[in-house]
Amino acid sequence: MITVVGSINMDLVVGTDRFPKQGETVLGNLYTTVSGGKGANQAVAAARLGSTVHMVGAVGSDAFGKQLLDGLEMEQVQTAAVKTTDGASGIANILLSEGDNRIIVVPGANHELTTADIDAQKKLLEKSSMIILQLELPIEVVEYTLALAQQLDVPTILNPAPAAGFTSSMKQASFLTPNETEAQELFGGNWELELERYPNRLIVTLGKHGARYFDGSEHVLVEGFETAAVDTTGAGDTFNGALAVALSEGQSFHEAVRFANAAASISVEQFGAQGGMPKRSDVTARLGEAT
Ligand code: RIB
Ligand code: NA
Repeated sequence: MITVVGSINMDLVVGTDRFPKQGETVLGNLYTTVSGGKGANQAVAAARLGSTVHMVGAVGSDAFGKQLLDGLEMEQVQTAAVKTTDGASGIANILLSEGDNRIIVVPGANHELTTADIDAQKKLLEKSSMIILQLELPIEVVEYTLALAQQLDVPTILNPAPAAGFTSSMKQASFLTPNETEAQELFGGNWELELERYPNRLIVTLGKHGARYFDGSEHVLVEGFETAAVDTTGAGDTFNGALAVALSEGQSFHEAVRFANAAASISVEQFGAQGGMPKRSDVTARLGEAT
C-alpha cells in the first residue's frame, strides 16, 4: 500500500501559440480545468498501475475542492485522510505554448495541512510500503513526515519539486527524484558528482532522455522511450508514482527506473497531467516493444 502526502490542485490550463512577452496581451486558443497537483497526480499514477493508494492532503471548501475529491475517488485513490478547509483549493495556472509549459502554483488549502494532520495518520503511514512526498506542502510538514517515516522504518520517495522548498534535512529521504533543473538547484552545477554520494538513491530524471543514477560503482543512464509528446505536464509525476509501485513490489532498482521511464513516456501522449497516465498493461506493452 502506497501513501502520498502531497498537494491537490485544480489545473487551469491555457494554451497559446507563443508565450506573451512582459506587458503584452495575446489571444489564447485553449482554456480548460483538469485535476492536478503533484501529490494527486502521483497518487493517480500509482493507482492506475494497480496499487492501493491513500492520499493525505487538503482541499478547499470551494467548488474545486469537491471536484478534486470526486476525481481522486473515481481513480480509486482513498481520500479519507484528505481534509477540507475553509477557503480556496490549490490551483495551478498552466500556460502551454511553444511545445512547453510554464506553471504558477497557488497553494491555497495545501498550505493548511499541519504536522498534527500527519500525526493523526500515523497508523496509515506505518502500514505503508512506501510514502511519496513533493514540495507543494508546507516545508515543515514535509520534514516532519520524512522524520516520522524514518522512525517508523517506512521507505520514502521525495520528489523535490518545486526545488525552492528543499532543505538539507530532506536528504534523509530514501529516494530523491529531482529533474535536471531541480538537481542543479539542490546540488549546484556539479550535480553529476553528487550522484555518487547517493548510490541507488538519487535519480535525476532527464525528460525524454530517461534518468540517471549511480549504482555504487558506475554511472547508469536508463534510456527513455521514444514517443510523440502531446503534453509533458505530469510526466515527472507519472515517473514518481510508477517508481513507487515498482519499488514497493520489490522490483530491482534498475528495473523500477525503467518501469517508471516507460510509464512517463506513455503519459505524455495525452493532454493533461493525469490524462494519459497508463494502466499496468500499457506499461508492460511498452517495455516489451523495446526489448
Ligand atoms: O507536475 C505537474 C503539476 O504541477 C500540475 O498538475 C500542477 O498542479 C502543479 O502542481
Ligand atoms: Na498527459
